Amino acid sequence: MDKSIAMLPNTAWINLTYNCNLRCSWCYGKGTWEKDGTMPFSHVKELLSYLKVIGCEQVVLIGGEPTLHPEIIKILSECREQRLKVSFVSNGLYFANNTFCKNVLTTGGNSLDVTLSMATFPAGNQTTETNENRIFKKFEQGFHNLRQHGKKPNITVVISSTSISHLSDVFFWLAENEIDNVSFSVGVPSITLDKVDGTHTVNPQEIGKIVLKLFRAGQVLGIKTSFRNVPLCVLPRIDAEELITYGAIHNSCGIPNEKNILFNVNRELITCNHLESNSSCQWEVLKEAINRNDFESFWNSRKMLASRNVFPKFPSNLCKNCDMWNDCNGGGCPITWTYYNSQDYVNGWNKA
Ligand SMILES: C[S@@+](CC[C@H](N)C(=O)[O-])C[C@H]1O[C@@H](n2cnc3c(N)ncnc32)[C@H](O)[C@@H]1O
Ligand code: SF4
Ligand code: SF4
Repeated sequence: MDKSIAMLPNTAWINLTYNCNLRCSWCYGKGTWEKDGTMPFSHVKELLSYLKVIGCEQVVLIGGEPTLHPEIIKILSECREQRLKVSFVSNGLYFANNTFCKNVLTTGGNSLDVTLSMATFPAGNQTTETNENRIFKKFEQGFHNLRQHGKKPNITVVISSTSISHLSDVFFWLAENEIDNVSFSVGVPSITLDKVDGTHTVNPQEIGKIVLKLFRAGQVLGIKTSFRNVPLCVLPRIDAEELITYGAIHNSCGIPNEKNILFNVNRELITCNHLESNSSCQWEVLKEAINRNDFESFWNSRKMLASRNVFPKFPSNLCKNCDMWNDCNGGGCPITWTYYNSQDYVNGWNKA
């Protein structure tokens, strides 16, 4: 196979809107909450047709909250028309509306992949009715509606200073609902042009302990766990190896990965969803390159290569000779190291 062809993107991440019906304390997108932005349907439609030309096979619809896009059903229909496989990442609240839920599933078709992110948590033993409980009930209703219509959503939870006290209730809820797998993302800081906010993150040393506890709890309850953004040496090596063997480590930094192409709501190219305002190219420039039949050289141009190298390759010198580099996928999410000092946490291996 021609290597240069293999390096072209096959998955496009599209930020449909900055709007969100929630404001999760840990959200990396908090810098966009005050912005008013939604990609007009005509722009989405044109973008999808160009994605097809460059060989993309899959789109990930994200935001903000993608279900809030006023033309979301038309967008799903257009994706289907273009034969693009769709993954939908949502906080799930809108799926509590059964008509909406049915509409999404009918339009999206069988191949539609839905991920629901838990933005509030099960109440556990708590009996008082709080706003959080009400939101969780909507999430739960959305989940049940999807299941009732034959769609098994993936469940994902961010590990943050807000969620850690709820993680055991999350497990009971998963077990109660016969959910056999869950994906945890270690919360990373939110970055805007002038600020790095890591106040809701948990430090990497603590993360090591939490990841292990969750993994063991999953083993006991028969729930397969997976984890993203974990720098592996915050775990004892023997445990890290066990997690790798079980396929529980899904570190997946998209930044250096040429297979992903990402767009903010203005259709500007961005390097990562966490760096939403750091655009590397205007839509018109990209469009022109595609029209010239020159996408491949554009994608591999010096400028685009530089945009995929925004962070140092190695978070720490210790990573350079680490035999776990590939499994670790580059020390977890590089954004972690804009807030935490890698020297304090990356220790080759935790010998404890
Ligand atoms: C920003 S949300 C947008 C889509 C939708 N509103 C949702 O919550 O699923 C995309 C994904 O990022 C996750 N996420 C949010 N803040 C994060 C953070 N600081 N670190 C890691 N993942 C985060 C969410 O849980 C969700 O799965
Ligand atoms: S994580 Fe999703 S639901 Fe929560 S504030 Fe961010 S965009 Fe909204
Ligand atoms: S030294 Fe670096 S590459 Fe090795 S496990 Fe630690 S963070 Fe990952």
